[in-house]
Amino acid sequence: MAAAGPTAVLSSGKTMPLLGLGTWQLYPTFSRPENVCEAMAQSLADLGLDYVDLYLIHSPINFKYGTDPFTYAGNPEEIYDDVDYLDTWRGMEPLVDAGLAKSIGVSNFNSQQLERLLQNCYFKPAVNQVELHPYLAQQDLVDFCKKNNILLTAFSALGAPARPKAFASGEEEPVLMEDPSVVAIAKKYGKSAAQILLRYHLDRGVSVIPKSVTPSRIQANFDIMDFSLSKEDLASLGELDRTLRYVGANLFVTHKYYSY
Ligand SMILES: NC(=O)c1ccc[n+]([C@@H]2O[C@H](COP(=O)([O-])OP(=O)(O)OC[C@H]3O[C@@H](n4cnc5c(N)ncnc54)[C@H](OP(=O)(O)O)[C@@H]3O)[C@@H](O)[C@H]2O)c1
Repeated sequence: MAAAGPTAVLSSGKTMPLLGLGTWQLYPTFSRPENVCEAMAQSLADLGLDYVDLYLIHSPINFKYGTDPFTYAGNPEEIYDDVDYLDTWRGMEPLVDAGLAKSIGVSNFNSQQLERLLQNCYFKPAVNQVELHPYLAQQDLVDFCKKNNILLTAFSALGAPARPKAFASGEEEPVLMEDPSVVAIAKKYGKSAAQILLRYHLDRGVSVIPKSVTPSRIQANFDIMDFSLSKEDLASLGELDRTLRYVGANLFVTHKYYSY
């Protein structure tokens, strides 16, 4: 299958797609500028790469070096690190000069944080990767990123059906791929609900990284280039917006740089 979207170049000279792989992100315990290069070097060694096309700050919310926020059983406030994301960015920019990352970007940033970063950076963030789907349309953020030429990338675009329990809200949540409007539109186009949910982003000018370990689904998820959604169908998907966040909505809400 031809690689679509951004790629990483292996030491062998072969390319591999970055689509769906979240590995090339700065883990949120390496956010102090002096730790950024260490994290990058470790990722490159793990992956057997000389450089990546894109390296992202995982989140403006950060934690003390050496901790593991996603398995920590105590009060998360005990392991918060309130390092300013502008300082983390100052640790990221030399990666571009050193040729270890072709581009750098962020993830889980809101528009105020992006604005502040844009006013205080040497290299602009190329990408902001956020949760995005018809239940969480974030039109203001889409508009802001377009205006500032930052590529927005949608994660959990299919509703993250297999996300770890720790990231779920705990409340009864609607299943995005089973939403009656999505299913009806899928039927109309002769596509699956997943394909409609992916095409929705392309028709909004947003990139998207569905995750699958199932070869037939990976193929089907690429097979969305032979149609586009009508204005009416995009508008009816727009009506589904209910600010529903599948991933991490209530986690770390007391952090100084909480971004949701
Ligand atoms: N930056 C961040 O903070 C952040 C947060 C969350 C996720 N991400 C990244 O975003 C990517 C995707 O997000 P996600 O994994 O949360 O959610 P997602 O892509 O919405 O959902 C993935 C799940 O959907 C299933 N699936 C994939 N294609 C399907 C299809 N065509 N039909 C039916 N089911 C399908 C997959 O099952 P199978 O694998 O069994 O096929 C998998 O369980 C990941 O690579 C992740 O690293 C980033």
